[in-house]
Amino acid sequence: FGGFGKGGGKLPFNAIDPVERTVDTVTVPEGYDWAPIIRWGDPLFQDAPAFDAANQTAAAQERQFGYNNDYLNIMADGGNGRTGVLVCNHEYTNEYMMFDPAWQAQNEDEARRIAWAAHGFTVVEIERAKAGQKWEYVVGGDRNRRITATTPFRLDGPAAGSDLVKTVADPEGMTVLGTNNNCAGGTTPWGTIVSGEENFNQYFQGRGTPEEARYGIGTGAPSRGWEKLDPRFSAQNAGYEYEHNRFGYIVEIDPQDPTSTPVKHTAIGRFKHEGANINIAADGRVVVYSGDDERFDYVYKFISKGKYREGDKAHNMTLLSEGDLYVAKFSETSAAEIDGSGAVPSDGAFDGGGEWLPLVKNGTSRVAGMSVEEVLVYTRLAADQAGATKMDRPEDVEPNPATGKLYIALTNNSNRGKAGYEAADEMNPVNGNRDGHIVELTERGNDAAALTFEWNILLVAGDPAVSDSTYFSGFPPEKVSPISCPDNLAFDSKGNLWISTDGAPGKIGYCDAIHKVQLTGAERGRVEQFLAVPAGAEACGPVIHDLDDSVFVAVQHPGEGGTYAEPYSRFPDFKDSREDVGAGEFYGPRPSVVQVFSTRGNKGVGHAKRAAKA
Ligand code: FEO
Ligand code: CA
Ligand code: CA
Ligand code: CA
Repeated sequence: FGGFGKGGGKLPFNAIDPVERTVDTVTVPEGYDWAPIIRWGDPLFQDAPAFDAANQTAAAQERQFGYNNDYLNIMADGGNGRTGVLVCNHEYTNEYMMFDPAWQAQNEDEARRIAWAAHGFTVVEIERAKAGQKWEYVVGGDRNRRITATTPFRLDGPAAGSDLVKTVADPEGMTVLGTNNNCAGGTTPWGTIVSGEENFNQYFQGRGTPEEARYGIGTGAPSRGWEKLDPRFSAQNAGYEYEHNRFGYIVEIDPQDPTSTPVKHTAIGRFKHEGANINIAADGRVVVYSGDDERFDYVYKFISKGKYREGDKAHNMTLLSEGDLYVAKFSETSAAEIDGSGAVPSDGAFDGGGEWLPLVKNGTSRVAGMSVEEVLVYTRLAADQAGATKMDRPEDVEPNPATGKLYIALTNNSNRGKAGYEAADEMNPVNGNRDGHIVELTERGNDAAALTFEWNILLVAGDPAVSDSTYFSGFPPEKVSPISCPDNLAFDSKGNLWISTDGAPGKIGYCDAIHKVQLTGAERGRVEQFLAVPAGAEACGPVIHDLDDSVFVAVQHPGEGGTYAEPYSRFPDFKDSREDVGAGEFYGPRPSVVQVFSTRGNKGVGHAKRAAKA
């Protein structure tokens, strides 16, 4: 997990000031610099064409780095620490910034094929001269791979092969083409990547069933128009009524084996999975935690039937195929005192207990009127029936490798407390929750397989200078960095929590950011901002290699909402004019993976520090 490296660093820094949302650069602390490792369109293979945005093709995009990188890991190989792989997913595409609109209007189908090729995953080898230095990606590395919206996935687990996942093109219900809207993720103890298919609903046109409605699949034509190119994207086409039931899963890929078939695990349920993170229970069973990122949706966990075997990757890669699925029900100690203002209750803490409610256990459904297959395909409906606790958009749910405690990022919920919606409770204590909060959960006996837990709120986010609903576990609010919309979580080698944010510009008016939070001692709750991403970008997938004095960030959707003609972000190529754009460059923004590194030992590799004002 966090901290890998032989650079011997400690990642010391003084918190940066929050960065005004129009600033179009990566802002880092003194003593650090940054540079992209790889950008949208960069070629991955010897035969891959250089990026040429004006003449882009689907065939080229399939051999190049995809769009909107989200989950990220930087996995150094054993040995000298000079080689490794970078793995990231490509959640979605912003065609209006990728393409000249005049070209797109004339080439709608090719634009859609390019978008398919820009979704999915990238695995790419990386190398560096020595530990502690900046990584470079390797064109033509043996493990380099693209997975896209058309790559075959094996459907696995109890719902695989059921009638609910069969289509005319796949009458066995065992093979799905592609992964879409892959958001956050995690790395398993056996070295594979697990990642969540989140807002998959937006790609599909439905028939108007109640199940589709619960998943946000409408009957209107989706704006992407993929159903015009492939009938499977509309359930109104005969034979494709259930294609959308084949999305919304946790996928597992093996970044070490470019010939392996990626898998979709039905045993972990189907919802808008933000991601997945794994802990190992006291008895060796594997526990997968996953949040359903929707306002008033739930936190889940899966407990494998089989047990983890150190060093036996082939066995461990079967563990997510069979097991029990639970959803969280929280209870409160101060329910009567919660008025939605964020005021701390008289017992001094937002806290309580809870239990994991079974949905599937020992291979049988625990939800009346639903079969195992139905529970795993229509998991949201099963959890509704079970009485799970409605949370404020659960994003990353991640165990701290240093303590086993679980951290749940609840990004925000504009509808909390509105007429017709649930009011604030102790777990979600702010009506209209604008800036989000973080719940800390301790499993009974600190055993990941326990079926009861205790919880408390670590922090209620916001800008303490203007908000009176912030809370930082008692740490003085005037001494923290403002923080809004916690999304992805990571830990360093000392067990400090690192939080990246999604949506701060529209809430507190600052660029999205990565913050470090102390979890123990007198400074518990102290939030310090480490970096800010460029204008319009979301900070994704933070990877903290504190021993290498490095932080990695997937800069997603820079300049989102701008136009192709007049982009308000030009990260990371920062060209002054279109005439100035050279080979392999782009005038508008390019989603990119960035390394932030100590300037000690990294002379001359940093990016030109320029801040364009939007
Ligand atoms: Fe793709 Fe929940 O963020
Ligand atoms: Ca996310
Ligand atoms: Ca309380
Ligand atoms: Ca998010």
